[in-house]
Amino acid sequence: MNLVYLMSPKGGVGRTTLTANLAFALQRLGHQVVALDLDCQNSLRLHLGLPVSEQRGIVPGLQHSSDWRSQIMETPSGVGLLPYGEASQTQRESFDALLRQDPEFLGQRLGPLVNQPGCIVLVDLPSGPSAALEAMKKTAGISLVVMLADGASAATLPLVEHESYLGIDARKSAFYIVNQVYIRSRLNRDVTEFFEQRLGAAMLGRVHRDEAVPEANASQRSVFEYAPASAVIQDLENIARSISRMLPEAYGHSAMTFSQN
Ligand SMILES: Nc1ncnc2c1ncn2[C@@H]1O[C@H](COP(=O)(O)OP(=O)(O)O)[C@@H](O)[C@H]1O
Ligand SMILES: [Mg+2]
Repeated sequence: MNLVYLMSPKGGVGRTTLTANLAFALQRLGHQVVALDLDCQNSLRLHLGLPVSEQRGIVPGLQHSSDWRSQIMETPSGVGLLPYGEASQTQRESFDALLRQDPEFLGQRLGPLVNQPGCIVLVDLPSGPSAALEAMKKTAGISLVVMLADGASAATLPLVEHESYLGIDARKSAFYIVNQVYIRSRLNRDVTEFFEQRLGAAMLGRVHRDEAVPEANASQRSVFEYAPASAVIQDLENIARSISRMLPEAYGHSAMTFSQN
């Protein structure tokens, strides 16, 4: 099952930014990538080059189709996108209720995507506890926990590591990324080293802090295109290669086509 989801106990740590940029990095390694937004902020589409006016998505489209393959939008980079969509409160609540009450719901919709040879699905989740996280934990996907190299993130580590947070199965397949590492800051360096020692092999990698990341996003370009010399590129490529190695079935050609927007 080629499914990877990005989560974090805290908000604003870079989940959406990393989902988009790891999607680009995995695509550059030759994978076909579908990015799925399960956060009602619906911001992943902006990182992947779709306009603010694009309102469609899986939540407003819930009544129309149960096959998410037909709702994948092609983005300028070629990464496929399943946006959350601009949803009303009622639509958001109905979606959360389905995630909570129907144990088959997410698996049925993701199944045709994640079992497609050559296709990797990357999922952007809301921060903290959510119906989407609870449903995702029941899949056989790999969880990537995004942390910042600060005291507040370090303080959340025991909570995240506790089996009640990720669940026993998900905990076994949990990996960590430390984002926005700023090596000139002593605290930042110390916390990053603490994470590396404490997490061992579960520490998938670190991503440097670079203003080129928000700038690339603001200009609706990928950081690969906007700042090819940034240290962030190497960081993203290393993490993408590690993800790729964990997903042996993610090679090969897929016949999936995306709808044009
Ligand atoms: N490696 C990085 N270097 C610099 N800024 C970053 C980096 N990663 C994320 N950011 C910035 O941090 C902010 C929060 O990122 P975002 O992806 O929206 O977080 P989340 O989805 O976890 O709420 C954004 O302004 C983003 O541009
Ligand atoms: Mg986000």
